[in-house]
Amino acid sequence: MSARITASVYTSHVPAIGAAIDLGKTAEPYWQPVFAGYEFGKRWLRDDPPDVIFLVYNDHATAFSLEMIPTFAIGTAAEFAPADEGWGPRPVPTVIGHPELASHIAQSVIQDDFDLTIVNKMDVDHGLTVPLSLMCGQPQAWPCPVIPFAVNVVQYPVPSGRRCWQLGRAIRKAVASFDRPLKVQIWGTGGMSHQLQGPRAGLINRDWDNRFLDRLIADPADLAQLPHIDYVREAGSEGIELVMWLIARGAMSDAPPRVLQRFYHVPASNTAVGHLILENT
Ligand code: DHB
Ligand code: FE
Repeated sequence: MSARITASVYTSHVPAIGAAIDLGKTAEPYWQPVFAGYEFGKRWLRDDPPDVIFLVYNDHATAFSLEMIPTFAIGTAAEFAPADEGWGPRPVPTVIGHPELASHIAQSVIQDDFDLTIVNKMDVDHGLTVPLSLMCGQPQAWPCPVIPFAVNVVQYPVPSGRRCWQLGRAIRKAVASFDRPLKVQIWGTGGMSHQLQGPRAGLINRDWDNRFLDRLIADPADLAQLPHIDYVREAGSEGIELVMWLIARGAMSDAPPRVLQRFYHVPASNTAVGHLILENT
């Protein structure tokens, strides 16, 4: 039996969420409504953990500085250390990788004409660790191996939603041709609307975000045609992180997914928090 993608998880990745968890503030009035939205997902993941998580995220000039900017980078190492982002590395477990599946996906996806950068050594920042913390709490070890997949959404030019969607399709094919019976989840992270700098700093667009969630669930191929400038205009400069959700959605089956969780909350720090769990039917 071959590997298969069972479900996809989508979530924002605000660094202040990581700090709230690490400093024991999750029950405070400001944070409680944010974490309430993840209670279902934590139970769901604990009750039925996958064998591997393929985690699509963006690095924030932590592993990749302006000296080198891969558009798509797959982590093929055996482990990935939490990065020091300036306040010291987060007190979270080391991320254990899955070199065999990651190498297989690299082989398949590159032969399908996506030019991935292969990364054999990399630290992982809040873009990757905050989604894990939101879904897992504070475990001694993460529940399964994680393959980090970094997308450049920080330094222009960024990849289009259309290319992200097609890449998801190629990842789906790659997983389905791995000759081991692994249950694989794919996570798309970052977003939703936020802008961290300039005259529009603090921008949030609830209507646009919720329409994005509707369309990601029901009409993702059409949503994938949206040009990058629409994300920036409607969801703020950092709202472009949402193209990463299309990679995860593109890796799902063609049949309509089961929506296990849908959550939206404003604000967490400067960001609108969105969270979905979609299961393949
Ligand atoms: C915030 C959000 C981000 O996505 C990020 O990378 C840094 C900060 C914020 O809302 O504060
Ligand atoms: Fe970010």
